[in-house]
Amino acid sequence: MSLTVRAPAKINLHLGVGALGADGYHPLATLYQAVGLYDDVTVEEQLEWSVHLRGDGRIDLGEVPSGDDNIALRAGRALAAHHGLDRAAKVEIRKGIPVAGGMAGGSADAAATLVALDRLWDLQTPDDDLLRLAAGLGSDVPFALVGGTALGSGHGELVTPVADHGSWWWVVVEDDAGLATPGVYRAFDELHAGRDVPTPEIPSALYDALADGDVEQLARLLRNDLQEPALRLRPDLATTFDDALAAGAHAALLSGSGPSVLLLCADRDQAEGVEAELAERGHRRTSVVPAPVAGAHVVEYV
Ligand code: C5P
Repeated sequence: MSLTVRAPAKINLHLGVGALGADGYHPLATLYQAVGLYDDVTVEEQLEWSVHLRGDGRIDLGEVPSGDDNIALRAGRALAAHHGLDRAAKVEIRKGIPVAGGMAGGSADAAATLVALDRLWDLQTPDDDLLRLAAGLGSDVPFALVGGTALGSGHGELVTPVADHGSWWWVVVEDDAGLATPGVYRAFDELHAGRDVPTPEIPSALYDALADGDVEQLARLLRNDLQEPALRLRPDLATTFDDALAAGAHAALLSGSGPSVLLLCADRDQAEGVEAELAERGHRRTSVVPAPVAGAHVVEYV
């Protein structure tokens, strides 16, 4: 018997970052949105844990750990341990989310594995327990379970759904080289050294823009405190921002800790037009995606 769960990529419409805490994390106020790029995770009961990675030719799998340090295996083991079970599974990951792109692909794999094994083994794990296990695996994992649009606080792991009545369309511009999240947070610290970093907060107008589905308002309010530090590490990304605006997008925003860049468009037609313009400017690794989309959910059970 095998079971497949699909989990989405995330973006941050607002990523407000506070000063580094004693726990090694930065307090966040973020608004997550799940977008239509997915990883599919298939699990099958086996005697030993193993992980297998598949791409669609478009994704570079080189940087994904294929052993015990893979976050999906850590998720599977954590779930088994939580229930005191001595069981194992083969975990196959079909990646559609850019690797190390700032879109929480690893977190999606962990969330999908938790749901897949919970259903395969009929564990009936309460949501609160799944969310706690998810938080122990990574800051973005709980949101990959929940999906839609949600406020993230703590270090991103405390998620609360938010009303979002828009049908949003984004162009995702991928980059050839990944950016590691801890390095971007370090660049944030260096940038703010000796300065007061205010407590991060979501502007109330952003909730209104989402509730109203107002693309122009949303375009004005997009903000990512990791954008400046990421651009210090990767100044060449500035060209992508310039090209995006020249191609007619409403706004351009770095995705999470980067290096993927997100272009907000009014509708699907505009997004496809922007994508075509970008291709003319040499940006070939792009996707047009809708948002918000569902969190981790079962798509196949055979
Ligand atoms: O939680 P996660 O494993 O995704 O975080 C990876 C790293 O990113 C952390 O070890 C930390 O260095 C940094 N981080 C942070 N503040 C956050 C989230 C992540 O400094 N809110």
